[in-house]
Amino acid sequence: MGVYLKPIDEDNFLDVFNLKLKEGQDNYVSHPIRSLAQAYVYRTQCQPFGIYADERVVGYVMVIYDYDIPEYDIWHMMIDSSQQGKGYGRAALALVLAYIGQKPFGDSNRVALTCNRDNAIALALYRSMGFELTGNTDGDEVELALML
Ligand SMILES: CC(C)(COP(=O)(O)OP(=O)(O)OC[C@H]1O[C@@H](n2cnc3c(N)ncnc32)[C@H](O)[C@@H]1OP(=O)(O)O)[C@@H](O)C(=O)NCCC(=O)NCCS
Repeated sequence: MGVYLKPIDEDNFLDVFNLKLKEGQDNYVSHPIRSLAQAYVYRTQCQPFGIYADERVVGYVMVIYDYDIPEYDIWHMMIDSSQQGKGYGRAALALVLAYIGQKPFGDSNRVALTCNRDNAIALALYRSMGFELTGNTDGDEVELALML
């Protein structure tokens, strides 16, 4: 399938600005434009990526290290509305976990993320990859985590 992650840099940041969500999905995830603004604020502890399939950008995801817990967090994973349901999200998540496994920021084996409780597709994907509900919630968001 040829899916890979490419760090966001001056060559591809405009490409991820053009990614689109389906109607209603903006309740589930921040758009890459907003996510990249956050990535600037947390620039010493995070890495945003474009998700590529066959040389084309199809999505976006960010990995951030939380030094306080410590743990790796996955933020704002999204696949373009026209490219969802083709296996790219699952492939990208496996690549993100492999990247985190290299411990780019710190030594923690814990990986966590939050997901809207109504986002059944994403919840099923995360659980099938080994994430489990922690019981922590924040409004409509539930936390899931796994140990590498
Ligand atoms: C959630 C998301 C990242 C998944 O990426 P994707 O490329 O669409 O998903 P995949 O094609 O890899 O499919 C993953 C699983 O979900 C299922 N799935 C995907 N789209 C589906 C749909 N519309 N209806 C039912 N099942 C679906 C697939 O069948 C697959 O399950 P399987 O491997 O057991 O068959 C993507 O749909 C997305 O960007 N959604 C909007 C943003 C979002 O919710 N991000 C997550 C924030 S926590």
